Amino acid sequence: MQKKDKEPIRVDERLAHIAFIMDGNGRWAQRRMMPREYGHKAGAANFKKVVRYCGNIGIKTVTVYAFSTENWSRPQREVEAILRLLNEYLDACEHDREAQDIRYRFIGDRSVLPADLQARIERVERVSAGRVLTLNIALNYGGRDEIVHACNALIAAGKKAVTAEDISSALYTADSPDPDLIVRTGGELRLSNFLLWQAAYAELYFTDVLWPDLSADDIDEAVRHFYARQRRYGGV
Ligand code: IPE
Ligand code: IPE
Ligand code: MG
Repeated sequence: MQKKDKEPIRVDERLAHIAFIMDGNGRWAQRRMMPREYGHKAGAANFKKVVRYCGNIGIKTVTVYAFSTENWSRPQREVEAILRLLNEYLDACEHDREAQDIRYRFIGDRSVLPADLQARIERVERVSAGRVLTLNIALNYGGRDEIVHACNALIAAGKKAVTAEDISSALYTADSPDPDLIVRTGGELRLSNFLLWQAAYAELYFTDVLWPDLSADDIDEAVRHFYARQRRYGGV
């Protein structure tokens, strides 16, 4: 992800956390007369580049929507291909040198994943703790599921009534700030159950670019839009 002849963009503390809804892999493949799985492979490759680029421009936390609680309804072959890519990615997290400055966190209900996958996820989280760039990977993630899970955890802890802070601190994202900017590729204008609670005051940016094609210039464009907006948080 290199850019030619342009001023490198740099973010400040106003844009600490960017989240991506990585949509459009299937259409990217179909346009090439290829099976959807081919698009997921290209999407996974671009995901690594995007994370690296975000780190380079000074973003502290990146969250990506990799697999939703609803995505299990896809054909088995496609689900299996995505889980295979995830396994390959975990290999890279553990062994690639350039993956060694990322703090990996997985958000979502991992309890239904195969035991060996859960163990690998826990290992990657453990060994990467304390690194600079936080990457939250939303896997079997649903915003509603997350809020229900948080409420049940609070009830189990003996709470009879809860505050907004209680809920925030019981979410999978408890140790990340809320996203400042949510970028969705692939042209759909919806959140599809992503970060419902945390998105309360996030700026939203939608692009028709399909995820495997999202470039450094496209990210710069989203960042420029973000800085052109005025965040009022209900004030004037
Ligand atoms: C997003 O791309 C990736 C996942 C949901 C895993 P899609 O697979 O939804 O691609 P489109 O939207 O069908 O093009
Ligand atoms: C959202 O994309 C989920 C991920 C990107 C992982 P979908 O393709 O599943 O969303 P819908 O079905 O178009 O709402
Ligand atoms: Mg989609």
